[in-house]
Amino acid sequence: MHGMNTPAIVPLPVAVDTASGTMPITADTALRADRDSAAAARLLAGWLPPVDGQPRPVSALRPSARAGSITLTTDAARADLRDEGYALSVTPRGATVTGATQRGVLWGTQTLRQLVGPRERAATLPVVEIVDRPRFRWRGLHLDVARHFFPVPFIERLLDLMALYKLNTFHWHLTDDQGWRIEIRSRPRLTEVGARRAATPLPHDRTRSDGTPCAGHYTREEVRRVVAYAAERGVTVVPEIEMPGHSQAALASYPELGCTGSGYEVATTWGIKNDVLCAGRETTFAFLEEVLEEVLELFPSPYIHVGGDECPKQAWRACAHCRARIAHEQLAGEDELQSWFMRRMSGWLADRGRHLVGWDEILEGGLAPGATVMSWRGSAGGVAAARAGHDVVMSPNTHCYFDYYQSEDTAAEPPAIGGHLPLERVYSFEPVPPALAAHAGRVIGVQGNIWTEYIPGESHVQYMAFPRALALAEVAWTPAELRSPAGFHERLAAHRPLLDALGVHYRPWSR
Ligand code: ACM
Ligand code: ZN
Repeated sequence: MHGMNTPAIVPLPVAVDTASGTMPITADTALRADRDSAAAARLLAGWLPPVDGQPRPVSALRPSARAGSITLTTDAARADLRDEGYALSVTPRGATVTGATQRGVLWGTQTLRQLVGPRERAATLPVVEIVDRPRFRWRGLHLDVARHFFPVPFIERLLDLMALYKLNTFHWHLTDDQGWRIEIRSRPRLTEVGARRAATPLPHDRTRSDGTPCAGHYTREEVRRVVAYAAERGVTVVPEIEMPGHSQAALASYPELGCTGSGYEVATTWGIKNDVLCAGRETTFAFLEEVLEEVLELFPSPYIHVGGDECPKQAWRACAHCRARIAHEQLAGEDELQSWFMRRMSGWLADRGRHLVGWDEILEGGLAPGATVMSWRGSAGGVAAARAGHDVVMSPNTHCYFDYYQSEDTAAEPPAIGGHLPLERVYSFEPVPPALAAHAGRVIGVQGNIWTEYIPGESHVQYMAFPRALALAEVAWTPAELRSPAGFHERLAAHRPLLDALGVHYRPWSR
């Protein structure tokens, strides 16, 4: 039931039963957790009003529990909750979060946090019974740290906000033409050379340059820290190492990876570059395997994103090595050469127990077996891939590109790449188009993308991501039949104090 007194939870839970009454959270309210829920309880302690200036302690579960406590438990017998579901029960005498898994407990704890609201307030929980589980298992947010670099504390704040809205997949776009951002021990020039570009186009006049060097990368230690921080919050970090296009920073670092073998620099302009990794020479694959070995060490994610988008083929056409590869592998041409490239990488990842994810261009020339497709040029690529028996993440630029303008009055907005994607349009997204009704299970989720060519600063990222990420979170979590734009707007309004208390630089919305 979703009645008048339904608490303002985003994303809207599957089942909410309200009744009159409240449970006050006082200095005496104890926090209790079983072993598997202790990490969630420690997070919760930081979100509740402090006691004597300190986060309240977490105690172990005991049968003789006092009334008036908040209890977090993991119960594998609750198969109905599956991997990520939870039950939350609040009575005047206490509150309990139950999940079948740690992740389920984490999401239930985030719902509890939303009921609590800003930490600074004296908190009172409404009496409520919630049973909840997600519609999709990939609920993603992407951030491009190649075009502009964002340091670890900012990434951690973004992960906090993702978790608050039950987004569980952070797609970290670590490499591109304009910068290589992850330390690779065996290939030090990637960050010595590839992490620095000489200049950046001006946001308000992309034909002109700022003339100022721009640099930054994450050390292995920092990457480990981000991955661990995300995992504590139930978020998986999916790294993206772009290939064979969007690789100019790698070519500048190791020119022997390109078809001409010299003359590359880290790009100082935006757009699609013709210089790409040579698909003919074995040195390219030795390089990629060395890089990915280290990436797999750092990222436990079952999915590894290898890009695959926007790879012009003219350098390959002019390259003797690439032509020899086409002949030797009996390929029909350059599109099939890209396919062959992706199949090779997919096989290499599969041998190590990982799945390849790529942008929808990886369909061209034939999909690698087992590849997951991220559909960005609309949903058509996703439809074709799902029909062919592949898993799909829907991230179409029509509904999921958070670098697009949020208003038609572009003069009143900070400069953006273009487009028009208001909050309401994100909310209206249906990830399973009618054409896929028979293959609905192939759509494993949705994702919002934040490309940062025109987003140089941290608060600007938040301005582009919020509140659109909340709309996306509801698309990703809530059953389609329960979604309503009016209901969402009402609940969204109630989130303003929490977002304000968290210092989120969201774009103000009206209604
Ligand atoms: C993309 O937006 N080039 C995936
Ligand atoms: Zn070549």
